[in-house]
Amino acid sequence: MIDVSREFVNNMFRLDNKVAIITGASGALGSAVAMGYAFAGAKIVASARNSEKLNKVVDEIRERGGDCLSFAADPTDENDVRALVKFTTEKYGRVDILGAFHGFNAPKSVLEQSVEEWQKIMDANCKSIYLLTKIVAEQMVKQGEGGKMVITSSARSKAGMAGYTGYCTSKGGVDLMVQSLACDLTAKYKINVNSINPTVFRSDLTEWMFDPESEVYKNFLKRLPIGRLGEPKDFVGLAIFLASPASDFLTGGNYDATGGYWSC
Ligand SMILES: NC(=O)c1ccc[n+]([C@@H]2O[C@H](COP(=O)([O-])OP(=O)(O)OC[C@H]3O[C@@H](n4cnc5c(N)ncnc54)[C@H](OP(=O)(O)O)[C@@H]3O)[C@@H](O)[C@H]2O)c1
Repeated sequence: MIDVSREFVNNMFRLDNKVAIITGASGALGSAVAMGYAFAGAKIVASARNSEKLNKVVDEIRERGGDCLSFAADPTDENDVRALVKFTTEKYGRVDILGAFHGFNAPKSVLEQSVEEWQKIMDANCKSIYLLTKIVAEQMVKQGEGGKMVITSSARSKAGMAGYTGYCTSKGGVDLMVQSLACDLTAKYKINVNSINPTVFRSDLTEWMFDPESEVYKNFLKRLPIGRLGEPKDFVGLAIFLASPASDFLTGGNYDATGGYWSC
């Protein structure tokens, strides 16, 4: 008999009874994924540094039937990350999924950027991923049932750009960290670690790029087979896939969410 059951196919994208920590949950991509994971059945601990915007996201997820708690934490601070994991295990008993959707950029020429600002970008995008994956992995290993880690990188992780010595370097680091984490964590502990590498998705920071009359938009579309920029909703399918049983054989991957940008 073919080893694919109806039940397996019907549930392969479900996250029922899973507990997910989501960082950057107040942001454009993190809030969309938090809503998606909640609708897919997961219990969510939504996190960001500032509570005000975060709590609005949490309220909306709850109003729409999701099971979601809020925990303010700075992902670059080890004590905060440990407190986030402790809060999650105290409230929901476990952690099955880490979704890291926070990030920061301050584009500036290497000649103008201070060492301190460069370090801030590296810490926000790279050190934070080390802390989160390490401390969540410690918890998952204790639980002994594996887990999924979905980390946001960028299309800019594989190619440099003017003003991006911090951002490109930090995201390139994320890609290699994800590959190395998979080597440490998957075969032995059944913890799959993958990144999603997006191009331009609509957010407060990128909204200006969505003006169809702007040169930036027109130039972008010349290299974008999909024919448009991304909406947060476009990001959710891949994020659910990489957290769900459907991706059990995938680890150490840097997955293209670029609308074809990497292909041409
Ligand atoms: N949108 C895009 O076009 C795009 C393209 C490529 C890659 N990405 C990546 O996708 C992820 C999410 O982006 P987004 O568009 O959703 O961004 P966003 O809407 O600006 O949200 C950013 C999130 O990260 C948190 N954050 C901001 N600065 C931070 C810092 N210094 N340290 C830690 N957390 C910080 C914010 O909350 P608090 O400030 O309250 O902590 C917020 O929750 C980021 O890693 C970004 O680099 C986005």
